[in-house]
Amino acid sequence: MENQKKRIFSGIQPSGDLTLGSYMGAIKNWVALQDEYECLYCIVDMHAITVRQNPAEMRRRTIEQLAQYIACGLDPQKNIMFIQSHVPQHAELGWILGCYTQFGELSRMTQFKDKSAKHKDNITAGLFTYPVLMAADILLYQADLVPVGADQKQHVELCRDIAKRFNSVYSETFVLPDPFIPKMGARVMSLANPENKMSKSDPDGCIYLMDKPEDVMRKFKRAVTDSEMAVKFDKENKPGISNLLTIYCTATGKTMEEAEAQFAGQGYGVFKPAVGEAVVELMRPIREEAQRLLADKAYLEGVYREGAQHAQYLANKTLSKVQRKIGFVGR
Ligand code: TYM
Repeated sequence: MENQKKRIFSGIQPSGDLTLGSYMGAIKNWVALQDEYECLYCIVDMHAITVRQNPAEMRRRTIEQLAQYIACGLDPQKNIMFIQSHVPQHAELGWILGCYTQFGELSRMTQFKDKSAKHKDNITAGLFTYPVLMAADILLYQADLVPVGADQKQHVELCRDIAKRFNSVYSETFVLPDPFIPKMGARVMSLANPENKMSKSDPDGCIYLMDKPEDVMRKFKRAVTDSEMAVKFDKENKPGISNLLTIYCTATGKTMEEAEAQFAGQGYGVFKPAVGEAVVELMRPIREEAQRLLADKAYLEGVYREGAQHAQYLANKTLSKVQRKIGFVGR
């Protein structure tokens, strides 16, 4: 063992610019957990191609995403940060695990159902087997914990089922990972349509980490709310206000009671810009640091190269164990 710390794996697809949703649901917790765990944080470009991408855009976003990981507070000295396609063991283990996954299990994945409805003309086999690759990402590193937003819980559960099955057919091979889902910010909703999750493909309802302050303010001022006046958390009846309150609390560290008390008796005309300002202040140092880092491509290249080397070393240990157990002849 390299050390006795428990391990974390998580990743984000470079299929769009990083959003406030991914920050609050995932990255914020990655930063908080980086001292306690040995962490691998990945840019999962192989997952991104399950729907069609513009190659130049994806290349740009991959590097930007690395700069943003660091700018959010992830220390490259402490964490292994890398690009998924640089570590071919993900694809190799993905193939193997696909042979231990049921068609029926994959058919029940809600992300597959949603995405295949959205991309009706291009429902690829890759989109269908996506959760198997995700299981490979996690199991390859024997991760104990997977910090993600609520929408990824089902995938982590499937990953556990695959690992359990493999362990019971052969012998203890994989650590069973637990999802880590934050109490607040696990499901940030769209500002334009608070019934839907904030997603990178909905520019009006989505805050991107690199958005300019004036764009952030404009989107918050236009955020869809309700016809009442009260700034109160009530997810059922006031989804817009509840979402804004959650964003405000996650950005400032205040509790829901504190936030409600602060805006008691004040209208939405005061509340919405206040949320916008809290988010602008949260994002300002991240945006500035990411821009600074992006000016030094050689540094970023060093980080992802070193990350891939380190990740490959860890990945090979698991992969060779798996290959031996299933009966492949050693190379
Ligand atoms: P992705 O790229 O869609 O999202 C990245 C992370 O951000 C979280 N997230 C949100 N959290 C709260 N509110 C939102 N509106 C919001 N939008 C996104 C997601 O839950 C996720 O944690 N399949 C994964 C990527 C992946 C992965 C992995 C994650 C591939 N392999 C292995 C963990 C471990 C995905 O599509 O995330």
